[in-house]
Amino acid sequence: MGKIGVGTVSVGPEAKRLINEALDKNRISQGRLVRRFERLFAAYHGPTTHAVAVGTGTAADTLALAALYDRGAQRGDEVVVPALTFIATVNAVVHAGFVPRFVDADPLTWQIDPAQVAAVITGRTRAILPVHLFGKPAPMDELVALAAQHDLAVVEDAAEAHGARYRGRIVGTLGLMGAFSFYSAHIITTGEGGAVITTDEDLAGILRSLRAHGRACKCEVCRLNVSSAYCPLRFQYGDDVDTRFFFERLGYSEKMNELEAALGIEQMARLDDIVEARRANLFYLNEQLAEWAEFFQFLTEAPHERLSPLVYPLVIRPDAPFTKRQITQYLEHHDIDTRPMFGSIPTQQPAYAFMGHRLGDFPHAEAVGDRGFYVGVHQDLTRADLDTIVERISEFIRQSLR
Ligand SMILES: Cc1ncc(COP(=O)(O)O)c(C=O)c1O
Repeated sequence: MGKIGVGTVSVGPEAKRLINEALDKNRISQGRLVRRFERLFAAYHGPTTHAVAVGTGTAADTLALAALYDRGAQRGDEVVVPALTFIATVNAVVHAGFVPRFVDADPLTWQIDPAQVAAVITGRTRAILPVHLFGKPAPMDELVALAAQHDLAVVEDAAEAHGARYRGRIVGTLGLMGAFSFYSAHIITTGEGGAVITTDEDLAGILRSLRAHGRACKCEVCRLNVSSAYCPLRFQYGDDVDTRFFFERLGYSEKMNELEAALGIEQMARLDDIVEARRANLFYLNEQLAEWAEFFQFLTEAPHERLSPLVYPLVIRPDAPFTKRQITQYLEHHDIDTRPMFGSIPTQQPAYAFMGHRLGDFPHAEAVGDRGFYVGVHQDLTRADLDTIVERISEFIRQSLR
């Protein structure tokens, strides 16, 4: 039996057909397949939603934030982020030219603690960037209310939560923009890739400009690329100023390509089934491991939400008779892959030492960093795989109790 991994990739016949077609036609950079994927992804999130596909999930976060410069933000303004997240969320804030203001996690949900957000809002705060971490929705009611009160944008980092719901609404649609990742360990994948969704048509155009170096073109379909047809906007800025080589904003080179989009098109047809399978796996593991609840805190679903689990996280309780290192080593020696649950970016990752926070500033995020790890919960795990995970964890605990 192979290793029980934390992620999965399966490429079906439709994706292969589309990829081969693109290769045969020598059409590999952003074009028709990317647009088709964008439309499928947008439609999944509602009839008035626009989707702009980009190179990675990090780029999705970055470009969504950079779009705020068109809405009055200034470089050096602040963005509120959870201390407990994957580092890409915070890197995106910095890459976009903003300053991250960190908020500790709620120790029960591991999501940003809304009660602590108001304390970090200043006159320079422009946005809140909540993360639906591990596929569990962030506390959006409180965050959206705070944002309205302080005139802030809400950009959701839904990189880990495709298809999750909060009070019946799908995540990514609860703020001004929602950012997704299609990295291969994620719920659906294009290999590498990301997308920003929004119902604001003007913002969608700005995002299209941002992914293509900030050029003045914002159209969904470029007439000049489809054929050599006349474009009425081409010389809108002057007789000798070609719009395609006129750059309105500081942009990025973050396009998705046709081969990636082909993978995404196929995955969209399976998204709901994938989410269902992951949910069933999560609930099965929670049920089977319930006898060890005195040693672990589990990922659970509240009545107002519908999880779309990325992974199966476990936080070891402080008085458990074993350490994270001991249990993860045991699982890995038995071919069950594990990963750490990220922890506090400002105080546990040297990359953010320059911000001057001190260990102890974000105790709940740090506790997750010290005692949290995850195993897989993905759709390609079999019942036997899940039972193996349960057996190995149980076996390890019994040995530690001896
Ligand atoms: C919460 C979160 N945000 C952003 C990203 C960035 O996505 P990508 O790896 O596609 O750049 C990831 C994962 O990688 C993530 O987990």
